[in-house]
Amino acid sequence: MGARKRVTALISGRGSNLECLLEAQEDSASTYQIDSVFSDCEAPGLDHARRRQIEAKSFLREQYPSRTLQRAAIFNAVRSSAPDLIILAGFMMIIPAEYTGEFFGRLINIHPSLLPEFPGLHTHQRAIAAGGRYHGCSTHFVDQGVDTGPLIAQARCEIVPGDTEETLAARVLTLEHRIFPWTVNQLAADEISLKGRTVHYSTRARESAAHQHFILPG
Ligand code: GRF
Repeated sequence: MGARKRVTALISGRGSNLECLLEAQEDSASTYQIDSVFSDCEAPGLDHARRRQIEAKSFLREQYPSRTLQRAAIFNAVRSSAPDLIILAGFMMIIPAEYTGEFFGRLINIHPSLLPEFPGLHTHQRAIAAGGRYHGCSTHFVDQGVDTGPLIAQARCEIVPGDTEETLAARVLTLEHRIFPWTVNQLAADEISLKGRTVHYSTRARESAAHQHFILPG
């Protein structure tokens, strides 16, 4: 197997997805290696990287004269780490078009809904209120819109009677923890690729997704 693809992760919170990605990369079959983690705040999730001696750095708002300069510092750091892939694992900053354009095709997000349903925040609450049968999560390439980039994979679960925002979020999170490492591994192995705005899947990626009950929208 060739060298592992290098990944930079951006987070803003507890980092449970980051932790799963870090655990998954310990597998000898992993095709990626997260080697830096950056945050726009003192995110508790940075500890998951620090515990493993992986570079973890916060760029706090008060250290910069403006949000624009704070964001520029973060993306300068991303550029300096020269990653093959950049993953947003609960990164709450809005990313302007200059960066989504520069990194398009390498910038991956996970979103807790079956996109294009429920882009933005409070997805679990909105899914319950809408009264549908299913909810879930999506991985996608990031473009300049809010959760609008080309979809990579989705995992779904049922919304059950009595579900609250918390119970549904917990159910979806277990799916996120499976589909995000899977997505990054497939991308890093070039089993999934982007041409223009179209996502292409190898037969292996399709078989693996079917085995895991993931949905490939393409
Ligand atoms: C996840 O629900 C993810 O889908 C969303 O932000 C949350 C991050 O959770 N983008 P965690 O910090 O990975 O635990």
